[in-house]
Amino acid sequence: MRIAIIGAGNMGGAIACGLAQGHFTETRDIIVANPHNEKLQKLQARFPDIQVTNDNKEAARGADIIIVAVKPWKVKEVLSPIHPQRPQILVSLAAGISMEQLAQYVDPEMPIFRIIPNTAIDVRASMTLICGRNASDEQRQLLLDIFNGMGLAMMLKEEQLEAATALSSCGIAYVLKYVQAAMQAGIEMGLSPQNSMRMVAQSLHGAAEILLKGDTHPSVEIDKVTTPGGITIKGLNELEHAGFASAVIRAMKASR
Ligand SMILES: NC(=O)c1ccc[n+]([C@@H]2O[C@H](COP(=O)([O-])OP(=O)(O)OC[C@H]3O[C@@H](n4cnc5c(N)ncnc54)[C@H](OP(=O)(O)O)[C@@H]3O)[C@@H](O)[C@H]2O)c1
Repeated sequence: MRIAIIGAGNMGGAIACGLAQGHFTETRDIIVANPHNEKLQKLQARFPDIQVTNDNKEAARGADIIIVAVKPWKVKEVLSPIHPQRPQILVSLAAGISMEQLAQYVDPEMPIFRIIPNTAIDVRASMTLICGRNASDEQRQLLLDIFNGMGLAMMLKEEQLEAATALSSCGIAYVLKYVQAAMQAGIEMGLSPQNSMRMVAQSLHGAAEILLKGDTHPSVEIDKVTTPGGITIKGLNELEHAGFASAVIRAMKASR
């Protein structure tokens, strides 16, 4: 399977690295196009077998999957000249560009996917949202398999993408904000910034593992830590008094 990635920025570069470390394709069958060479050279320094080019048409020619990872306002100018068509599969990362719009720049009957990873794709721990059009079950499964290899992937309806983006793509910033706030508390209480960060990050990691691996729910897990009259319930109630849950709900809804 030959995979072309147009745009070697944060997202395109991370996907190229994820693919090169996965088993879906040979590294030599990944071709990345970018107008400037610096990012391409960095990719090739890490994975010498990756092919690189400054020519989008060259990258797209003969590719089974074309992944477009340029800024949303560049999608039209990138797609129109290369004109992807069946049996190729188009994958767009561009936030806010609908499948209906994408279909205007390509063969409208071809399989089109929109994907929204988050920045953890860099460490192959992304929450990647996917929606598809004109795609077979096998093609949907292929996309899920590829992006499950870089974290966790979920197939959604296009109308669910905005809400899901708020939770997972913007949401990673809110989680980091929580870490930052907890670190400030740790530092005030005499812990070093580095240790504070590691403690909170590992606690988050543990909470995430519990939720993702078990048949459980946050309430059940909170209950396990909350001894009557103990210190955890005092802190939890402080969060309630400060409007923590309400602030999170408002933040998520504001990001739609
Ligand atoms: N960042 C996120 O958290 C996130 C999450 C989900 C989705 N997205 C989406 O992912 C897409 C890429 O975002 P990003 O953060 O990776 O942006 P980025 O780092 O700016 O990467 C965009 C890349 O596209 C290249 N490029 C510009 N014009 C091009 C052209 N005509 N042909 C080929 N390549 C071209 C740029 O090259 P030069 O810089 O060398 O000019 C750059 O390397 C966006 O559409 C965004 O909406 C981002």
